[in-house]
Amino acid sequence: MKLLEKTQLGNLTLKNKMAMSAMTRSRADINGLVGESTVAYYTQRASAGLIFTEAIRISEEATGSPFTPGIFTEEQIEAWKKVTKSVHDKGGLIIAQLWHTGRAGHSIDRNGKLPLAPSSLPINGMQHFTSQGMKDYEVPKEITVEEIKQTVKDFGQAAKNAIDAGFDGVELHAANGYLPNQFLAESSNQRTDDYGGTYANKSRFIIEVMNELIGTVGGEKVGIKISPFHPYGDMVMDNPVDTYTHLIMELNKLDFAYVELMRRSPYFPSPAHYPAIDEMQLFGKMIKKPVIANTGYDKTSAEAEIENGIAQVVSFGTMFLANPDLPRRFELNASLNEPDRATMFGGGDQGYIDYPFLNE
Ligand SMILES: Cc1cc2nc3c(=O)[nH]c(=O)nc-3n(C[C@H](O)[C@H](O)[C@H](O)COP(=O)(O)O)c2cc1C
Repeated sequence: MKLLEKTQLGNLTLKNKMAMSAMTRSRADINGLVGESTVAYYTQRASAGLIFTEAIRISEEATGSPFTPGIFTEEQIEAWKKVTKSVHDKGGLIIAQLWHTGRAGHSIDRNGKLPLAPSSLPINGMQHFTSQGMKDYEVPKEITVEEIKQTVKDFGQAAKNAIDAGFDGVELHAANGYLPNQFLAESSNQRTDDYGGTYANKSRFIIEVMNELIGTVGGEKVGIKISPFHPYGDMVMDNPVDTYTHLIMELNKLDFAYVELMRRSPYFPSPAHYPAIDEMQLFGKMIKKPVIANTGYDKTSAEAEIENGIAQVVSFGTMFLANPDLPRRFELNASLNEPDRATMFGGGDQGYIDYPFLNE
């Protein structure tokens, strides 16, 4: 099976082509520190060719949800060192996913401050998980150019911190309706300055952050995750094909390691005007970097995707969440544990580090 064969991604040698995609688990403490359970959780999954951490806040300002980890204080960096060391001791590789939530936050968990966003447009049609229960989204504050420049710098500092903490690289979270994604969509960006209007302007923030990350830690340690047809977080684009075609053409000019490309999810139907084209065929073929395919893959479809030759690696979310030994299960054609939705976000070790390994 090609999925189980090794591959090269940037300067990393992956022992198989199965990555674990980033998953927020909301088990950090109030100071954004990960603890022993998080060390155990990632170490259990070290047989993945590559692990992406849950999204990690680059700054206090980047905060959207409670109990999510950060990488901007000394204590946070020290806490992550225990994770990276333990994963490396088990022969694994681990990349930190860098996160700014933009309008996908709530003042309840931001010391009373409203979230920042490209424009003052709230998320419609969904509620936000806060430390005081589910709440409607607030109207965010429009981010100033000065704040944009600071945010770009914060991404660079967080990347430096991640490398100091022992991570093998960093991934810009530009998917799922968070700040970088918000700059691309008309439903969150109606700016009339250099960061809105044209495709070039709407891509500017992502390109600036990518340049900052590449300049800070080196392109071989940098990747990006995008989700072109995924409407999560009320992401609606007038023309998603042209928007992402422009972004990908600009990304192709930069020197970095990979693009993780999410397909649409059956759980989140795209707006009616979006084309029914397969994202790997459309965008995957445009990307002149190694592609990591994501969303909805099982053993058979992942192997077929690798055979197609567009993607070099496939990343699995929920399957790795529930199956710490997923590569072995694929190898042995073994049955899979089912993920428990009730324990995905928040809580203790149940549904976190107690999914059984085979023969347990
Ligand atoms: C509990 C949970 C948390 C997630 N958190 C993140 C996240 O922090 N960053 C991210 O890029 N994607 C996140 N995702 C999306 C997954 O990485 C993945 O893209 C998605 O689940 C589709 O892959 P799958 O079909 O293999 O599960 C999350 C998904 C789940 C189920």
